[in-house]
Amino acid sequence: MMSQPRAVLAGVGVSVAPHEVDNSMLARIMETSDEWIRERSGIRTRYYVDPGTGSADLGAEAARAALDDAGVDAAEIDYLVCATMTPDHYFPGTGGLIQARLGVPPLPALDLRQQCAGFAYGLQTADALIRSGTARTVLLVGTDVHSSLIPWSERSWELLHGREDGPPSDEEWAWNNRFRHLTVLFGDAAGAMIFRAGSDDDDRGILGASLYADGDNMDILFVPGVGSAYRPFVDSAMIERGDSVPVMDGRQVFKLAVTRMPQVTKEVLADCGYGLDDVDLLIMHQANLRINEAAQKFLRLGDDKVHNNIQTYGNTTSATLPLAFHEARQAGKAPVGSLVAFTALGAGLNYGSVLMRV
Ligand code: ACO
Repeated sequence: MMSQPRAVLAGVGVSVAPHEVDNSMLARIMETSDEWIRERSGIRTRYYVDPGTGSADLGAEAARAALDDAGVDAAEIDYLVCATMTPDHYFPGTGGLIQARLGVPPLPALDLRQQCAGFAYGLQTADALIRSGTARTVLLVGTDVHSSLIPWSERSWELLHGREDGPPSDEEWAWNNRFRHLTVLFGDAAGAMIFRAGSDDDDRGILGASLYADGDNMDILFVPGVGSAYRPFVDSAMIERGDSVPVMDGRQVFKLAVTRMPQVTKEVLADCGYGLDDVDLLIMHQANLRINEAAQKFLRLGDDKVHNNIQTYGNTTSATLPLAFHEARQAGKAPVGSLVAFTALGAGLNYGSVLMRV
């Protein structure tokens, strides 16, 4: 019997928002410090878009870079998969907006709603589409504009960027402090990968995936307002209460990430007939450097087998895995033939691990 060709990586591209914001700039508008943010999370900087730039814009830019890297013409894409938790609109999804921005004719485009695990789900989806013969060239995009979720006033944004002087009002200060455990963590970016059908006997490609949704834990990280559970789905009282801003029990998410990311990584390796010694590179979701240090220790992987970049970009949700992989590959850590494990955990809870031979 002929084997089914796997999804083989052909190219990677990224797009990072233009405005770098360091921790001291955040301290202009809330009670925080470079020391607190670095010690608790490892983050030094993050990047924000200008208002008016949505996840489709960043996603299309990353897609173009990935096509360039792969040497593939946009017209050859026959399936587009987009992971985002910050779509441009309540509907339609962002995948179709990216298709239009790329200037290609209509094609099938999916949106995935698995937050930080969105790109991992996308890797499995790309592989399934190719293995089933549904597609031969898949564009997978992970894109998030978190600055759209941040509830600062226009004045706070101006103060942050140093375009206005003076302290925030007491009201602004108190409001910004209420969300400080969240807002310091996130940045805006996109990453994309192009996958093509490998040859029948190719040992490269996506080898397997262990993915989970654990809806019983949805309340440790979610947006309480804005959605079909309400009529109307959004109103001014919701916004005033801050119900459009995510709620996060950081300690609980931390605890589950530290245990479940290593667990699923071991699981996918075992399912594919490999062990931890076979792994050349582990790319973890970048939500907190301390989470990743603990997971690395648990898995007993050396520093040369792990790549973190949360220090520079913060948590970029769906963009995180391709952004970290792209950087690692540029540093020579993921040559053709290397075995790379991806793992992520985020809101949902959605989590999992995917194994790929580059
Ligand atoms: N600056 C200064 N102080 C702060 C800040 C801040 N930005 N944020 C919170 N604090 C204060 C708190 O108010 C608290 O003060 P208190 O002791 O006087 O009450 C103190 O610091 C400790 O707060 P904790 O929340 O207990 O701090 P913790 O060590 O847990 O760190 C953090 C918080 C960084 C959020 C951590 O819990 C974490 O990273 N958790 C995991 C987050 C994560 O993985 N999220 C996934 C998101 S991905 C997705 O799906 C969208």
